[in-house]
Amino acid sequence: MAIERTLSIIKPDATRRNLTGRIVAKFEEAGLRVVAQKRIRLTKAQAGQFYEVHKERPFYDELCEFMASGPVVVQVLEGEDAISRNREVMGATNPADAAPGTVRAEFAQSVGENSVHGSDAPETAAQEIAFFFSGLEIVG
Ligand code: CMP
Repeated sequence: MAIERTLSIIKPDATRRNLTGRIVAKFEEAGLRVVAQKRIRLTKAQAGQFYEVHKERPFYDELCEFMASGPVVVQVLEGEDAISRNREVMGATNPADAAPGTVRAEFAQSVGENSVHGSDAPETAAQEIAFFFSGLEIVG
């Protein structure tokens, strides 16, 4: 198994409800290590840039509005198969489909306000990490 890094975002619905620590605990319990982390407030334009791949989707505007509606905690998680492991811990995008015990099953409020984002592949992980962090900010 390969040691990977993935980009994680704890979204505004979760920071608003003070769930950051409980979500980070789930990552750590799954063997993922937080090697970079910061709490920031995105502008709608920055959220739009991050989610540019979804710009033709009907929910794009709502997604960008939501991601700019409060603080987010952006993180780099490191570990064996970190990308797929993080996706397992997060659960399905729609909390109605998320397996019991996953972050989204326990905390997400809807498909839009679904508490966390995680990269979906090595190339997107590299791009998404570089969107938020410089090399100096990542300490493994
Ligand atoms: P995320 O993993 O951050 O990637 C894109 C996001 O778009 C996704 O999680 C959801 O929060 C959001 N999304 C996906 N489908 C919908 C939908 N039907 N309505 C609103 N938001 C959605």
